[in-house]
Amino acid sequence: MNQLGTGIAITGSGSAASEVTLDNHQLSQIVDTSDEWITSRTGIQKRHLMDAQGSLSEMAATAAHSAIAMAGIAPEDLDLIILATSTPDDLFGSANQVQAHLGASKAVAFDITAACSGFVFGLATASQFIRTGLYQNVLLIGADILSRWVDWSDRSTCVLFGDGAGAVVLQANQSDRLLGFALCSDGTQNSCLQLAYEPQDQEIVKGLTVAKGTYQPITMSGKEVYRFAVQKVPEVIEKALFRADITTEQVDWLVLHQANQRILDAVAQRLNIPKHKVLSNLAQYGNTSAASIPIVLDEAVRLEKIKSGDIIVTSGFGAGLTWGAAVFKWGR
Ligand code: UT7
Repeated sequence: MNQLGTGIAITGSGSAASEVTLDNHQLSQIVDTSDEWITSRTGIQKRHLMDAQGSLSEMAATAAHSAIAMAGIAPEDLDLIILATSTPDDLFGSANQVQAHLGASKAVAFDITAACSGFVFGLATASQFIRTGLYQNVLLIGADILSRWVDWSDRSTCVLFGDGAGAVVLQANQSDRLLGFALCSDGTQNSCLQLAYEPQDQEIVKGLTVAKGTYQPITMSGKEVYRFAVQKVPEVIEKALFRADITTEQVDWLVLHQANQRILDAVAQRLNIPKHKVLSNLAQYGNTSAASIPIVLDEAVRLEKIKSGDIIVTSGFGAGLTWGAAVFKWGR
């Protein structure tokens, strides 16, 4: 699938999160839970939380700055900025605020929403603009502040989520390093995981009522989403690997959306990928939605675990329901 256009390389990564954290012991003072329950069921020990004044676009720009620096380019070199988020500062989109923060005056910017699959859907979207020869330098950011939308009295969800941002730079490249991807959606299961719009009546003139916009906190059928992830993620990874002509044995790193350590373990087991190839930072971050993949990727790159040429398979999954996978070699 990848011989038909310009080659693509992922040349830089960056991440950002608030320094403020909330650990499981603190959570157990808010809801009826325990460190033992959260750690054993999810692997999460703490999560980073943005304060009330914090801005998603500023956090995204911080992650982006690091990614751009690693790629060795300047913000003015960017042609396109894609921000994958479900929690923008502005429902009209926050990518343009990121563009302004960065001073990326040449870049066009827009948001995409695909919940926890946002980063993988963003990779596929970004790649199209490079593949066709339209753009050379694309910044992709996954960023979410789910703490804004969590019901802090619901123990079945509030223990899971954290806030953060991660970014990568994709560049036109002589050798093609983005080897394949596969994307899926199933809207029939939309009610499993929602941050749903719930209209309130607002009569603007007698007899004419329109809705007043409000959103309800996150609701999730945890067991159903768990079952979906463990079944569908290995399938979509196998599809992406097949398209990339890569075997599971050739994979150096499995970089899954950080939702639950048990999901990471089950997917790796089904694919027969050994544990030492599975990246996880759930303990420190929890589930940061669209940000989770680029954050854990960036950590591993900066620790020099991931080296140039390593083969990475990544998969995002979540609300929509949406799921997808991408296979790429790190670096130029
Ligand atoms: O990023 C989007 C993708 N999201 C996901 O991938 C999430 C997928 N789902 C999961 O990760 C898991 O289903 C959860 C971590 C959300 C829940 O784990 P579980 O093992 O499926 O637990 P459960 O929902 O079956 O609940 C087991 C018990 C219940 O009590 P009873 O009915 O057995 O008495 C729950 O009420 O655990 C109870 N429970 C809790 N207990 C202490 C649920 N949440 C908590 C809690 N602390 N925080």
